[in-house]
Amino acid sequence: MCGIIGYTGTHPALPVLLEGLKRLEYRGYDSAGVAVLQEGTIAVEKKKGRLENLRQATKDRRFTGCAGIGHTRWATHGEPSDRNSHPHTSADGSIALVHNGIIENHARLRAFLERQGYVFQSQTDTEVLVHLIAHHFKGDLVSAVRDALYLAEGSYAICVVEQSHPDTIVCARKDSPLIIGLGEGENFVASDIPAILKYTRRCYLLDDYEMALISPQHVTVLDRNAKPVSKAVFDVNWDENAAERGGYAHFMLKEIHEEDKAISETLAPRLKEHEITLENIDLAGVAHHARRVFIVACGTAYHAGMIAKYTWESVLKIPVEVDYASEFRYRSPLIGSDDLLIVISQSGETADTLAALRLGKKCGAQVLAITNVVGSSISREADSVLYTWAGPEIAVASTKAYCTQVLCLALLMLRIGYEKGVFDATTYAQHLDELKRLPQLAREILKNEGQIKDLAHRYCSLSDAYFIGRNIDYAMALEGSLKLKEISYIHSEAITAGELKHGPIALLEQGSLLIVPATQPALFDKVASNMIESKARGAHLLAITTAEAHSILDCANDVVLVPSLSPWCMPIIAIIPMQLFAYYCAVERGYDVDKPRNLAKSVTVE
Ligand code: F6R
Repeated sequence: MCGIIGYTGTHPALPVLLEGLKRLEYRGYDSAGVAVLQEGTIAVEKKKGRLENLRQATKDRRFTGCAGIGHTRWATHGEPSDRNSHPHTSADGSIALVHNGIIENHARLRAFLERQGYVFQSQTDTEVLVHLIAHHFKGDLVSAVRDALYLAEGSYAICVVEQSHPDTIVCARKDSPLIIGLGEGENFVASDIPAILKYTRRCYLLDDYEMALISPQHVTVLDRNAKPVSKAVFDVNWDENAAERGGYAHFMLKEIHEEDKAISETLAPRLKEHEITLENIDLAGVAHHARRVFIVACGTAYHAGMIAKYTWESVLKIPVEVDYASEFRYRSPLIGSDDLLIVISQSGETADTLAALRLGKKCGAQVLAITNVVGSSISREADSVLYTWAGPEIAVASTKAYCTQVLCLALLMLRIGYEKGVFDATTYAQHLDELKRLPQLAREILKNEGQIKDLAHRYCSLSDAYFIGRNIDYAMALEGSLKLKEISYIHSEAITAGELKHGPIALLEQGSLLIVPATQPALFDKVASNMIESKARGAHLLAITTAEAHSILDCANDVVLVPSLSPWCMPIIAIIPMQLFAYYCAVERGYDVDKPRNLAKSVTVE
């Protein structure tokens, strides 16, 4: 996730900016840059890669100014490179800007600006903002920023400097956090509290559509009509580690709580009023010519792929094969030029998935990657890419990436279905409306956190747990089970509910825990019979189900309710209670949730 720092005061700005960026490193980034106001101009340096590269590049230059802005970039539009790094500058170098967020209408704005003669230096969505500000600048920076932002759709936290305002930073936010740190004779602005904790613990938290004009002695916060707003000071009492986690006890919990935002950000650029727009993907080719779809991935990403097997086959009537990447290449898969290969990988670097991608390409298949990391090996080698805009995932256990992977697969399925004529316009519009409700539904499920915490408290001392489900609920059971075992070290297995009686039921005894995602109305009664069989052997039943599932509700011992949704949306929301359950079990058992034993975040060896 990108990070922002700004400083204006009496000390040289560069060391403060570099220190602030260092404090933001934990968020993940692929390039970094600074802009310092000095001697009537703006000195800019930016470098791909680690902060150390930027530090080295600034060593040989004179940075004397006492006001400036800095940025760490997590690539979205455009690969990680020096050019795509922030700050971006106006054509004459008189204005510099850093930005977190996504400008959704950047293509339209870019076309407009190019018609006016502006020449773009980068592939980023951000660069439109700096040219728009330059376009509107008539001596008053606040007005120019306001006029430019009036035209921008999407999310932003921005900081802007202009060379004739040598000690001033103008900043603004919408749907992306920004805070102002209040010092003595100096002030700060940052996307996150850790960046400024070394200097001050007194902050203003900007709200959406607010702007601020910051100089060493003054901070003026303005509302969307440019009227001054009086803000309450927020005193930060977190230590530095807690501040990095936004006050959450662990990154995993923070990332679960970011799922609504990850879903919105993944949807926003793709979902317009009545349409799904997917960048650079040959949808007609898939809809009308793909013979089969292969989905290949590892771990959690594989479980996301399994959801698509069920939903794509039933809706699109295209055969879908799902493989573990580590198995795919050793089974001589019958894949060829009429097939679509979808590889899913949060990191974009998983060695097995990359090898599967290469094999698919060698066999002539079209390869589409679903990944979270722009510029990753998988994104570079695939024929086309659909990004999950989940932001960096730091906890080893994958959570928000899973939700956005399932969401991307649902977007693809709906768009291909529409292309194939599977849905009429009205049904299609209803499906799009359902997608739009997902962030709010995620927030509502998170309100049940207390209930799930209590359940975890009751069951965390068990040594085994069994997850059962049918159809997509089985795919979810696999993911719920993986989450539980990888962080709480409780042995757990996912079993298709119908297979229980073919063997695994022998494991059940008095007090065994069965966790039952049951979200498919057509299968409620069948799953309920499996639950009753298990209960008769002493099992305790914890169901994750909907209010309509009467047969399930009748036999479960504990119930966590989730809303009723279509099968392709259901797992995006219904997985949340299982993620929280795993999290609280691990916490109760006293384990290091974010760094479970024997596991790495990115598995780059086979
Ligand atoms: C589980 C988990 C792993 C990853 C797997 C693939 O919580 O994180 O199972 O899903 O290692 O990683 P990516 O998606 O980076 O290819």
